[in-house]
Amino acid sequence: MSENENSPKTLRRIGVLTSGGDAPGMNAAVRAVVREALTNDVECVGIRRGYNGLIRGDYYLMHGQEVSHILSRGGTVLYTARSDEFMTPEGRQKAVDVCRFLGLDGLVTIGGDGTFRGALELSRLGVPVVGVPATIDNDVGCSNYTIGFDTACNTAIECVDRLRDTMSSHERCSIVEVMGRRAGFLALYVGISVGATAVLIPERDLDFEKDVIEPIREAKFVGNTHFMLVVAEGVCMDEKFPGVHTVFDLGNKIQREIGMKPTVTVLGHLQRGGKPTARDRETASRMGYRAVKALAEGRYNLIIGTQKGKIEEIPIEEALEMKKTVQMERYYMLHDLQNRVPRNLR
Ligand code: F6P
Repeated sequence: MSENENSPKTLRRIGVLTSGGDAPGMNAAVRAVVREALTNDVECVGIRRGYNGLIRGDYYLMHGQEVSHILSRGGTVLYTARSDEFMTPEGRQKAVDVCRFLGLDGLVTIGGDGTFRGALELSRLGVPVVGVPATIDNDVGCSNYTIGFDTACNTAIECVDRLRDTMSSHERCSIVEVMGRRAGFLALYVGISVGATAVLIPERDLDFEKDVIEPIREAKFVGNTHFMLVVAEGVCMDEKFPGVHTVFDLGNKIQREIGMKPTVTVLGHLQRGGKPTARDRETASRMGYRAVKALAEGRYNLIIGTQKGKIEEIPIEEALEMKKTVQMERYYMLHDLQNRVPRNLR
């Protein structure tokens, strides 16, 4: 956390942007940033379309009224983007020039790891930054929780519950793919919450027989007639099972093995939309508020994270080094909570 000779003496104007994949609750964070800035007599400039918008000078001055009624809306009113231009030194320099032109004393960036790597580059070029973690993947190392995760879990759970109604009536096997290219948090939490037969996550080495077929066979043996597999999208992208590039390939492989054709449902971007839950609205409000508080008090180049339920400020370089791994005890618990063959009969 920096509090050095470059500390903004008086905060007059800050910028806020959302970047990377959107997440429900981003709007609540934007609202908190704008309102807390105005409460402190600080002007707030909304930058549209993430770092792309910053480079192009796509901005507007935000007023208190403008962020009314956005708290409950999914997506982001500031739009979002992934910027190739920002990856180049020239692009980043343009972004810095725009920050200077706008007279920004600080910039709040709302997004995931990629967003914060961008923020770190800006901080090295002299722009005071504060990051707010928001991604449905929940994969930001310095924060136990990221805005949007709870809503995405609940959305996915609702979809899987609906699927289960019809699939169990037909005594079928279902595969549901949830988002998570590199992280299995969403798959694991959803799997636990729907009582999945098996959950496949990218963090684990997987064995087709042991991790897919055995749980289905065992469930069948104890009398289940419907099987639900929850798969994080990274599993097939990473080709965790040789020759299986998509969940549809996985479905075919299962059919060849057990003779039952699974129905495959890819939830895709559905999971990123929708009204944020109470948890996401509340967390986003606290994080956005704290981001401005930090800037107003001269602390910057940090990420606002949650640790043990508390909001913490973590220096950005340190934050980006921190790793968070999926909790394997949850994975084993899911397995133990299955309707299983008694130990003495295995
Ligand atoms: O927001 C993170 C994430 O949802 C990943 O889980 C997913 O793979 C990715 O974004 C997809 O985003 P897009 O299709 O917008 O690039």
